[in-house]
Amino acid sequence: MKNIQLTIDLEYKKLEELNEQERRLVDMAIRATERSYAKYSHFSVGAALLLSDGEIVIGANQENAAFPSGLCAERTALFAAQVQKPEQSVEMIAIAARNENGLLDNPITPCGACRQVMVEIEERYHRPMKTLLYGTKGVYIAKSSKDLLPLSFIGDDMIVE
Ligand code: THU
Repeated sequence: MKNIQLTIDLEYKKLEELNEQERRLVDMAIRATERSYAKYSHFSVGAALLLSDGEIVIGANQENAAFPSGLCAERTALFAAQVQKPEQSVEMIAIAARNENGLLDNPITPCGACRQVMVEIEERYHRPMKTLLYGTKGVYIAKSSKDLLPLSFIGDDMIVE
């Protein structure tokens, strides 16, 4: 038997410590929370993507009375970007959220399904997606979304040649 320990590498910075580009993307994610349709959870999430051509794409969670029909903020943005600009990689994503008390103090952490989608988009474009998770107290920064999903399912073993 062998024990295997996996560690993840994150930075934790104050908003003021971010560079201009990161700060701008976080601001866009905060603003995107206002585009959320969170009638049921009252939890509004915003995502902003920086594409390789410099364009910014935003997303926000969209809920539905038939619960599974809704979609997280991250995936609304990521799927829209892949449809609108399939030739551009996603260089960076910022995520922010607020509940009925306002913006979260601690960084929002994306759900497993969104992490899975983020990892596959990195694979598709062979580019790491820097990931900024905003909270009013500080921002977690991962160099790659893969840092948030150790042992992720890539699908390489699905297709046998
Ligand atoms: N949600 C997101 O949009 N992104 C996350 O990272 C976590 C959860 C949404 C889904 C649902 O509309 C609401 O937040 C409560 O789960």
